Amino acid sequence: MNIFLTGATGFLGGELLVDLSKRKEIDKIYCFIRADSQEEAIKRLGRVFSLHGDAFDPNRIIPVCGNLFDVNLSQSLGDNKDLQQVDVIIHSAANTSFSRIYDELVEQVNIAGLEKLLKWAANLPHLQTFLYIGTATICGKDIHNRVVTEDESPNQAARHLVRYTYTKMQGELLLDAYLPREKILIARPSIIMGDSREVTPRSPVILWTVATINRLRFIPVSEHAMLDMIPVDYASQSIIALLFAKRQHHVYHISSGYEASTSVYKLSRSLEPYFSELPPFRFVHKSMLAQVKLWARNKCKPGSELFQYQPYLDYWNQALDGPGSLRILLAGLGPYLEFIELGQAFDNGRLLRDVAEVKQSVPADQYIKSCMRFIEKINILEGAIDP
Ligand SMILES: NC(=O)c1ccc[n+]([C@@H]2O[C@H](COP(=O)([O-])OP(=O)(O)OC[C@H]3O[C@@H](n4cnc5c(N)ncnc54)[C@H](OP(=O)(O)O)[C@@H]3O)[C@@H](O)[C@H]2O)c1
Repeated sequence: MNIFLTGATGFLGGELLVDLSKRKEIDKIYCFIRADSQEEAIKRLGRVFSLHGDAFDPNRIIPVCGNLFDVNLSQSLGDNKDLQQVDVIIHSAANTSFSRIYDELVEQVNIAGLEKLLKWAANLPHLQTFLYIGTATICGKDIHNRVVTEDESPNQAARHLVRYTYTKMQGELLLDAYLPREKILIARPSIIMGDSREVTPRSPVILWTVATINRLRFIPVSEHAMLDMIPVDYASQSIIALLFAKRQHHVYHISSGYEASTSVYKLSRSLEPYFSELPPFRFVHKSMLAQVKLWARNKCKPGSELFQYQPYLDYWNQALDGPGSLRILLAGLGPYLEFIELGQAFDNGRLLRDVAEVKQSVPADQYIKSCMRFIEKINILEGAIDP
């Protein structure tokens, strides 16, 4: 079997690449990668393997340099004779930014880029499966405090917190326009955070959120809202097991489900013993966020309820260098707080029923203990500027 993988230098894609490279039934893995030369591409792929000391076999892992922005992408992939042997495409590349300033880029990569890949894929002689890595959060922002099933998406009427989830939904809709259903497999992970092993995680992104909440200590968010989070090693292993399984459906959540879901409160309980020098966590109603934002702009009116929490304001002044830093942190954290507020978990019954080797994930408040050393090292201000 020959695989064409996009996004191999990313958080999930890197883990997929390493895990796929260990499967004997796979001959070659063509990695679509942004690089100016084959040498640079090989160096980038080498780093994916060296992060956790895995063996990189350049005879099986073949870079294909390119960019989802390339106008002639479908043509250039079609001209590459080696790629005619591809049986499975795993499309993990995406622009995952939540920031409005990248909305245009996000659309270009996640919709237009995907469409170019599909035009090429539709003409591949041996293609068995196009595995699209979607996201469970395409269900949108109108579902609150309940478990969401696969069949509820894609829903064109869904309203979205960020353009990213909208583009991932549009991506799912595009698949049907180019490929027959039997060749489409959609894996929709929930929120992928850190790694359940004691290793350096491939990406600090969601861990940055935890590190920032941990540092702020006073958080305007519903602390008991259900949160569906899984570690990247679980996400990768589940997706690969799904690819090789006899499936009953073409869409699967890769998630904790209700059973293994967590909450900010549970995460905070896990963090507390490791950071006992910090003030205790204090969660307040989300409506207080507006006051916090005003305080961060030195515009909070004297009678504000926020001043009842003066010890936290003093702590922010001392530990964060005051309101300016808080403003930067809140700008980065804002969309994540909104996602937390939704209280969504994603039903994982399909995956557990159809793929015998996949078991329930470990709840994030438990496996996060493997990430503590990393959380400690995250520079939250730097992460907020370049999430
Ligand atoms: N992380 C999560 O919590 C989560 C949850 C649900 C679903 N997902 C989905 O999982 C997939 C992987 O996410 P991730 O967290 O691994 O993202 P990531 O760490 O941001 O990685 C994104 C990957 O896409 C590549 N890429 C971006 N723009 C590209 C372009 N124009 N041309 C070619 N490659 C490009 C990046 O390459 P460079 O290294 O060159 O930048 C990188 O390899 C995505 O489809 C995402 O929607 C992620």
